[in-house]
Amino acid sequence: MSQSKMIKIFDTTLRDGEQAPGCSMNIDEKLRIATQLEKLNVDVIEAGFPIASEGDFEAVKKIAQMIKGPQIAGLCRSSFMDIDRAWEALKYAGERGRIHTFIATSDIHMKYKLKMTEEQVIENAIKAVQRAAGYTPNVEFSAEDAVRTRLPFLAKVVEAVINAGATTVNIPDTVGYTIPNEYFNIIRYLKENVPNIDRAVISVHCHNDLGLSVANSIAAVQAGAGQVECTINGIGERAGNCSLEEVVMTLRTRQDILPFTTAIATEHLYPTSRLLSTITGIAVQPNKAIVGANAFAHEAGIHQHGVMMEKSTYEIMTPESIGLNTNKLVLGKHSGRHAFIQRLKDLGYELGKEDIEKAFVRFKALADKKKDIFDEDLDAIVADEIVRTQERFKLVQMNVSSGSFAVPTATVQMEIDGKSKKIAVMGDGPVDATFKAIKSLTKSKATLVSFTVGAITGGTDAQGECTVRLEEGGREVLGQGSHSDIIVASARAFINALNRLEQKPIRKLENL
Ligand code: KIV
Ligand code: ZN
Repeated sequence: MSQSKMIKIFDTTLRDGEQAPGCSMNIDEKLRIATQLEKLNVDVIEAGFPIASEGDFEAVKKIAQMIKGPQIAGLCRSSFMDIDRAWEALKYAGERGRIHTFIATSDIHMKYKLKMTEEQVIENAIKAVQRAAGYTPNVEFSAEDAVRTRLPFLAKVVEAVINAGATTVNIPDTVGYTIPNEYFNIIRYLKENVPNIDRAVISVHCHNDLGLSVANSIAAVQAGAGQVECTINGIGERAGNCSLEEVVMTLRTRQDILPFTTAIATEHLYPTSRLLSTITGIAVQPNKAIVGANAFAHEAGIHQHGVMMEKSTYEIMTPESIGLNTNKLVLGKHSGRHAFIQRLKDLGYELGKEDIEKAFVRFKALADKKKDIFDEDLDAIVADEIVRTQERFKLVQMNVSSGSFAVPTATVQMEIDGKSKKIAVMGDGPVDATFKAIKSLTKSKATLVSFTVGAITGGTDAQGECTVRLEEGGREVLGQGSHSDIIVASARAFINALNRLEQKPIRKLENL
């Protein structure tokens, strides 16, 4: 049997993924995701765009300092200022630090965005790569909008940057325009027409505008690409990026015709997906391949019967292979600390002593009201008690009176910048009164764009989960909160969104 070729997985959840609306993360959140990506054993974590903002710089620096396994990449345009700044953050990763520099090469980008000629673009690319190579031999160059670039010019750029010191050359489908056959031919063309191509790894980076990013990435691997750039849950600008879990599981599942392997510890895929949605508040669509809630659910009777007789009748991969434990251990009020901690670990949450204590107290309070505590409840507890803390605005307690006769009134006590404040406000309904009270205490000018309520699990004792979208100064953020009382869940969601508005927008530069 011929040996499988190893394909590197370059995760850009914290850079390209984070550029998606509503996906911005603070430094602690980014570090949490990076720690999980380390467990997943990705080859490269693209941690951010250091020159874009102080927040991005600090996040890349901290990840470079803390994460020990994967290489850490930082993005920069092809300017010396960007490259120098990127290395300042990346140097803490030592030889695992990767400078990722890019410039657009398609006619349309060169003419309208860069206003540069082909010669200027090549010169710029060479100088950028040489500058980066002065810091580290680990240099990646991306030809932005490569798919719409004339092939002879693309080949010329690739040859020039490899000669200048690039050890990885990325051929992005920046606008999600290509189709598998065409992308295969582009990669083949470069393999056949760039004389020094064997001195670099070819990387592929696909956006999902036509829903083809995974298929395109697989086609590129078949044509000789050695690295795939992707994001958890496929998050990213517009329709997103190539989904890491889909590309990895395709390579793993179709070993019969795809002689490629990755180093990914696939049993961490599902916990990683959950952690990302918990942190960003962006839920995974139920029918999403691999990690969607229905991906392993067999509803139709004929399918259920088949699976009971022999799993492989309808299952092409096992839930366990992605870390989805189908024997869901349900916790209840008699469950002890040990079972609780073990379940959190199974779900991918490695918490410190203090965080476990906070979560356990909330778990016990919930178990008094709710018979069965499911994994989704635990996700909500971790999100509320741990992920969404360290914030400026905190809910201390609240009480709401409403009904068919009463004037709805909310009494809300909050801690703001460490000081306790309280107010009672009337409104059109209990949620309206609550939001008015919070706005008054926080002096917020934000407007409510949307508000949704759902149940985390089934049953009348289920926890309510609320999602609030707020807008202020042209910026929209999403907040989430959960509680067995939906008005309290609404208040938590509103406060979570206000805290997100407090975080500085992570990207400041134009055209990123
Ligand atoms: O989509 C793209 O072209 C990019 C590059 C900067 C790699 O994200
Ligand atoms: Zn991209």
